[in-house]
Amino acid sequence: MLKPLLFTGICLSISAPSFANTDHAKKLIQTNCVSCHQADVYKRDNRKVKNLTSLATFVENCNTQTSAGWFPEDVDAVVKYLNANYYKFK
Ligand code: HEC
Repeated sequence: MLKPLLFTGICLSISAPSFANTDHAKKLIQTNCVSCHQADVYKRDNRKVKNLTSLATFVENCNTQTSAGWFPEDVDAVVKYLNANYYKFK
């Protein structure tokens, strides 16, 4: 009786984040990132991020600093979100 229930729970928790990536990224940023900087850090004139690789590095480093415990998919979603909305690298 217990086993099928357990498996259902695991499947649900794995598949949940895979849809609506933009909303997912927004929520992650709201929860973990705005305590130190708002979106203006991504738009400032002398911003440090110059390409997709360094964007990924920054997100990863800030993730580590905050001990947010994001999964690689989360980092990926946030990198895509920030790029689509602010950085617009090709
Ligand atoms: C502990 C405070 C802190 C938190 C929390 C934080 N950051 Fe940062 N972040 C910084 C600081 C400070 C800088 C500026 C670093 C610099 O100028 O060298 C920065 C810069 C950045 C940049 C580069 C901006 C540029 O110049 O182009 C990105 C991207 C970024 N953070 C993403 C994130 C994300 C995503 C999160 C959420 C996981 C996050 N940060 C959470 C402190 C933080």
